[in-house]
Amino acid sequence: MARTATPTARRRPVDGLFEDIAARHPRSLNGIREARAAAPERYSDLADTFLDWAIRAWGRDALPRMVDAFIRFTTGVNMAQARYERAGHYENKTFQDCLNSLYNEKESMDDYLLGVYLTNFLWAHHAEICFRYIDHFLNRIPDAKALVEIAPGHGGWGALALKHLPAAELLGYDISPSSIRLATELMTGAGFNDRARYELKDALDLDAVPAESADAVVCNFLVEHLERPEKLFAVIRHLLKPGGQAFLTGALTAAQIDHIYEFRSESELVKMAEDAGLRVTDAFSGAPRRTLPNARFLPRSMLLVMQRRRNEIY
Ligand SMILES: C[S@@+](CC[C@H](N)C(=O)[O-])C[C@H]1O[C@@H](n2cnc3c(N)ncnc32)[C@H](O)[C@@H]1O
Repeated sequence: MARTATPTARRRPVDGLFEDIAARHPRSLNGIREARAAAPERYSDLADTFLDWAIRAWGRDALPRMVDAFIRFTTGVNMAQARYERAGHYENKTFQDCLNSLYNEKESMDDYLLGVYLTNFLWAHHAEICFRYIDHFLNRIPDAKALVEIAPGHGGWGALALKHLPAAELLGYDISPSSIRLATELMTGAGFNDRARYELKDALDLDAVPAESADAVVCNFLVEHLERPEKLFAVIRHLLKPGGQAFLTGALTAAQIDHIYEFRSESELVKMAEDAGLRVTDAFSGAPRRTLPNARFLPRSMLLVMQRRRNEIY
């Protein structure tokens, strides 16, 4: 009797990624399983979206390299946090040091950005931020057209924005040539290259671009890399149309080789936003579930959704 073929389920990229991590970096498996556990189906869809874009941009062979970059990045973060615990403050670094030693160094910066790309969903608290980015920001600005991304790095946050905002066009600015190249390649892989353009520029020079040109601004994990982070909030206000919305994330008491400004409390970020003329409409602060034993500092990642006020009060 002829047997009817049962349709074979498509092997999900996220399952392949987890298997690779289980085989080559088993000590990292518990943490990433936690990331998936909270909302397995939605999590797998998000991870597959990021992985499909990466495969189309850089080829399937790039995935193991990205996994290794993620492990190097996470290990570097953990080591920096241990040194921070001992010293009580971030390692002294200037923006110029970071520019010379990392942002302008192709090999190390490519590796860094590919590792960061995977943290968007492999770190549980960053996966949570990603879901909130979609639910509390992108889904609330469906008609946004002019979108500016400051410090796109790998370009993943911008690609997610263009996936959810069909009318939007994105202009991205980053200080690193690696970012401009990788973000352009990622957008091409994702099929959004006709709606995205990137320029090499210091975020703090964006007060020279036309004011009130953006319906929405996205700026993730840049603010702690600056010597004068309050200037970034002023730039965001400058770019936004009155009533326009911004999404910003930043790290608090979380050391990294290129973190310069040490935010200690969530209210510092809120205050900087308010002082710049922005109204905070949503906020969230998340932390890894596992931290160093007897740690003084809890590394957190915070998000703010902000709206440019129309006048002095609102
Ligand atoms: C931690 S990565 C964040 C990448 C991405 N936004 C994310 O959240 O995954 C920091 C990014 O900020 C960029 N950057 C650092 N200082 C900058 C500056 N002054 N102006 C523009 N970009 C800057 C770096 O080149 C890098 O791409």
